[in-house]
Formats: sequence, C-alpha cells, structure tokens
Amino acid sequence: MMDIRKLTKEETPPWELLLLADPSRAVVEEYLKSGNVYVGEKSGKAIGVYVLKETKKVVVEIMNVAVQEDFQGKGYGKQLIAHAINEASKRGYAQVEIGTGNSSIHQLKLYQQCGFRMTGIDFDYFTRNYDEPIVENGLLCRDMIRLCYTFED
Ligand code: COA
Repeated sequence: MMDIRKLTKEETPPWELLLLADPSRAVVEEYLKSGNVYVGEKSGKAIGVYVLKETKKVVVEIMNVAVQEDFQGKGYGKQLIAHAINEASKRGYAQVEIGTGNSSIHQLKLYQQCGFRMTGIDFDYFTRNYDEPIVENGLLCRDMIRLCYTFED
C-alpha cells in the first residue's frame, strides 16, 4: 500500500509521473490550473499520481493517473483509482469520468475492473490534439474512449 495525499498548491507536481500518462506538457499544464493533484508516496517518495478536476457541477474527471514504471503491476493503479472514487464521493459528486485511448488496452481493463462503464467515443481526439502519433499495443491511438463511474443512490 502507499499513502495518498492531496498536493498543496505550493508543492511542485511530480512531472515525470504526469508525463507518463500524458505526453503533452501543455495539455497537462492546462488541466493543472483547475485540477487537484494527489500523490501516492512510499517512504516519502512519490510513486503514483492522479489529477481530479470538476468538469460539471456534479461530475469530476480523473484527468491523469500514473504509477512509476518499477512499481507498475502491483495494484497501485487500482489503489489510486479507488482513492479518486472515494474522494469524489466524499465531496458529493454524482459521477466520476475518465478517458483513455482506443489503444490503451490495459487501462481499459483497469478502469472497468474499478467499476467504470463505457459511455462514448470522442472520435479522432488524439489525432486532433497531439502533434506526434501515439502507437501502443500495435495500435494507432486515435479515439478517446469515455468511461463513467456512477454512485448508487
Ligand atoms: N500490463 C498488463 N496488465 C496491466 C498493465 C500492463 N502494463 N497495466 C495495468 N494492467 C492491468 C493488470 O492486469 C491489473 O489487472 P489484474 O488485477 O486483473 O491483474 C489491473 O490492470 C490493475 O493493475 P495495477 O497494478 O493496479 O495497475 P498499475 O499500478 O500498473 O497502474 C497504470 C496502472 C495505467 C496507472 C500504470 O500502468 C501507468 O502508470 N501507466 C502509464 C501511464 C498511463 O498510461 N496512464 C493512464 C493514461 S489513460
């Protein structure tokens, strides 16, 4: 397990981790303006991160989630997503959204395991917003798959 806490506005965000999930520093800088950064720490060192941002009055979005490479595949990603869902619930939101690439097979698995369901496709989102082509798992990343977690009444 790792300790997860909200980063204060005075602290420097863990850029290396944030850029693992999102290759565009400009895109990340934009959502950091209004999003809250949470860091997952082990022995005081940041090994995980997520960013939660309000997108509608009752909806928050997980804009970024990443675990340092050496620590991946050990359940920390699941812990971060579960924490984000819990934060959203405590703060009274009705839904948590997340988006990922059509090529991000493992992420699609992880989010569905955490209770998210697919709600839509933002066609050509990545081709429109990123200068360099993104290829993973032998697939060109073109479309953003939108997923949503809805709290029970
Ligand atoms: N290879 C195989 N399976 C993977 C995987 C990978 N690279 N990444 C996640 N999974 C699957 C696992 O199979 C696991 O399922 P299981 O419990 O049935 O075995 C599930 O996802 C959760 O794994 P977990 O160990 O909690 O995930 P993680 O700590 O590796 O964190 C990410 C997942 C996506 C946050 C992490 O891999 C990461 O930082 N990736 C780079 C950044 C990124 O892509 N962020 C998301 C952008 S949308």
